[in-house]
Amino acid sequence: MRLPRPRGPLSALTATSLLSAVGMSTDRFTDQLDRLAPSCDVLADEDFQLSLWMLYELHYRGFDDVDPDLEWEPRILACRRLLERRFEQELRFRTEASVRKARLQDGAELGDQLGWLVEHMEGPRLAPYIQREATREQLLEFLAVRSVYHLKESDPHSFVLPRLDGGAKVALAELQYDEYGAGRVSRLHQTLYGDALEAAGLDRTYGAYVEHAPGSTLAQNNVMSLLCLHQRNRGAALGHLAAFESTSSAPCRKIVAGIERLGFPDAVAAYFVEHVEADAVHEQLAVRDLCGRLVAAEPSLHDDVLFGAACCLYLDALAATHLLDGWRAGSEKPVGAGA
Ligand SMILES: [Fe+2]
Ligand SMILES: [Fe+2]
Repeated sequence: MRLPRPRGPLSALTATSLLSAVGMSTDRFTDQLDRLAPSCDVLADEDFQLSLWMLYELHYRGFDDVDPDLEWEPRILACRRLLERRFEQELRFRTEASVRKARLQDGAELGDQLGWLVEHMEGPRLAPYIQREATREQLLEFLAVRSVYHLKESDPHSFVLPRLDGGAKVALAELQYDEYGAGRVSRLHQTLYGDALEAAGLDRTYGAYVEHAPGSTLAQNNVMSLLCLHQRNRGAALGHLAAFESTSSAPCRKIVAGIERLGFPDAVAAYFVEHVEADAVHEQLAVRDLCGRLVAAEPSLHDDVLFGAACCLYLDALAATHLLDGWRAGSEKPVGAGA
């Protein structure tokens, strides 16, 4: 994959810096961040989120046109930190009230509080729309923008394993073993998603649709890196995973129905069929064994777990709203075979 096209001054500065770190300076980054309009919503702003996504991608597969040594270049990390602070600050502000209310549920245990968040932060009904109304073009757009994550599905949370101990580590390893195919390459969830893209006539190449992804989709991806790449955020990383797994099984069933209604081949539905059952199990594993054992061992991480869950739910709702609003306004973006 090569660096994506910038979408504004901040991502242009990021791309230039990655192509030649010589001119990288936190002062220039700070200046550029200060120039963001006060009304700029950093959670949806594509220029901001693409900049952060490019910096995080150095820790995954990198770019063909960027020196891999830049992954640990102090000037790059310092600039990333500036973006992360602004991103995290905004996430804490937007989720604060929900986390507080979940915490105050009378006599509720951690699992009940996570359940309360899932119930009360539910976004617009994207899966039922796909089940009953989406056109072929809308389904293709959905598959394409989701590929930014699903082609590296579960990779962010693998960074959390060395940050855990005992029961929580064992539970995360068990969950990841499933996600990584339980010993079979063909069952690797990333592979299943690539198969779905290909069967739908889309490009399965890693990163093929990054340029198609709106800011809110990039934010969904970036929050996982923000939580999973920082040891201090390990509780939030597991809370994110618990919310993710808890909101997957039932929607996947509806998406399967939508894919069948539109007459796509079975291989397009296979990824979602797999997740109807797998994520019903993963939900229990993530809430009870992962988050439960972590908080039993480290009670001070209780609110961090709720924060991570709230981040997942808030950003999922934001991304779903963006897609649905566009579709209802008749402005879906046709996706070709690759970007
Ligand atoms: Fe999966
Ligand atoms: Fe899962």
